[in-house]
Amino acid sequence: MKGLILSGGKGTRLRPLTFTQAKQLVPVANKPVLFYGIEALKEAGIKDIGIVVGDTKDEIEEAVGDGSQWGLRITYIEQDAPLGLAHAVKISEDFLRDEPFVMYLGDNILKSGIKSLVEEFKEKKPNSLILLTEVPDPRLFGVAELKDGKVVRLVEKPKKPMSNLALVGVYMFDFHVFEAVNVINPSWRNELEITDAIQYLVDKGYEVHPHLVSGWWKDTGKIEDILEANRLILESIVGKIQGKVDEASRINGQVIIEEGVVVQNSIIRGPAIIGAETEIINSYIGPSTAIQERCKIIQTEIEHSIVLEGSEIRDVGSRIDESLIGRDVKIYKCPPKPSVYRLIVGDKSEIGIK
Ligand code: DAU
Repeated sequence: MKGLILSGGKGTRLRPLTFTQAKQLVPVANKPVLFYGIEALKEAGIKDIGIVVGDTKDEIEEAVGDGSQWGLRITYIEQDAPLGLAHAVKISEDFLRDEPFVMYLGDNILKSGIKSLVEEFKEKKPNSLILLTEVPDPRLFGVAELKDGKVVRLVEKPKKPMSNLALVGVYMFDFHVFEAVNVINPSWRNELEITDAIQYLVDKGYEVHPHLVSGWWKDTGKIEDILEANRLILESIVGKIQGKVDEASRINGQVIIEEGVVVQNSIIRGPAIIGAETEIINSYIGPSTAIQERCKIIQTEIEHSIVLEGSEIRDVGSRIDESLIGRDVKIYKCPPKPSVYRLIVGDKSEIGIK
């Protein structure tokens, strides 16, 4: 069985962060989202993986390489434009050939992995296996309607959802899916929708098995979902201190402190992760916080947040909460007088000032 990870597309909902970085490389608990998918496929015994890439191809290739860091074989498949998930399958036909495959959306994280699902697919051999989960707002997803436990209808982001069962971004197919992706037409948003391809399989009488996911699942397409995924992943870490923590500091709960980190006169309340060579001085780092490598957090309180590499936050008067801070960012308090704001802000940012 092969793997197909979709890592093309444009991360408009994560702007301004994705002006400078592929959305699949945004770190969750200091690891790119995409790596969770790669590791889930590896854990399920899949060794041959194709990654569909678009505009951010170079960055993705630089981060993932040839797959040898996981003992996997990675093939890159270029998609000229994000013309839909089914389009990504269509252009991958030469790579996939006749083999059944798992398609994994590169911005999804599934807590329980996919090992048992791949086993279920191999054992029962349906033409497709789709993963579903109940969500509060199905309008944001592909939605499935079941009748007597069978899939009867799928609609992409319906205005009036016919159920609360969203399609999770992991799908399994055999070669019949190529018949589907080659006959369906683009949707109103000019994409070849995978939901339409699966509907084609259902209509033609092919077997499409639904599987309800029990553990948590996150599509990290929006900033609040990234923070939530970060919180959920951090909940299962085991603390390990490798850097230097001075006697005036306190570390509570599960905290990973990587090599070369310096913690002085600070409190870190886990679960939290502090990346290599970061300095935490006279500060408070609260739960659900991931700080990447080479950052400086000085005289600052921060929690439920993600700080990307090389950023410096100092002397911020109030606590920073539920924030996602990009790479090489500098945040500091201006002198109290005169009372002005000095802002250098990227396009489409959102800043709340009290
Ligand atoms: O996350 C689950 C949802 O994913 C499903 O419920 C929907 O049915 C499915 O269409 C998809 O919806 P999204 O709107 O979240 O898809 P998005 O455009 O974010 O693309 C998902 C991943 O696939 C992302 O890593 C980018 C990549 N992609 C996307 C498109 C449209 C490609 O590689 N090529 C593409 O053409």
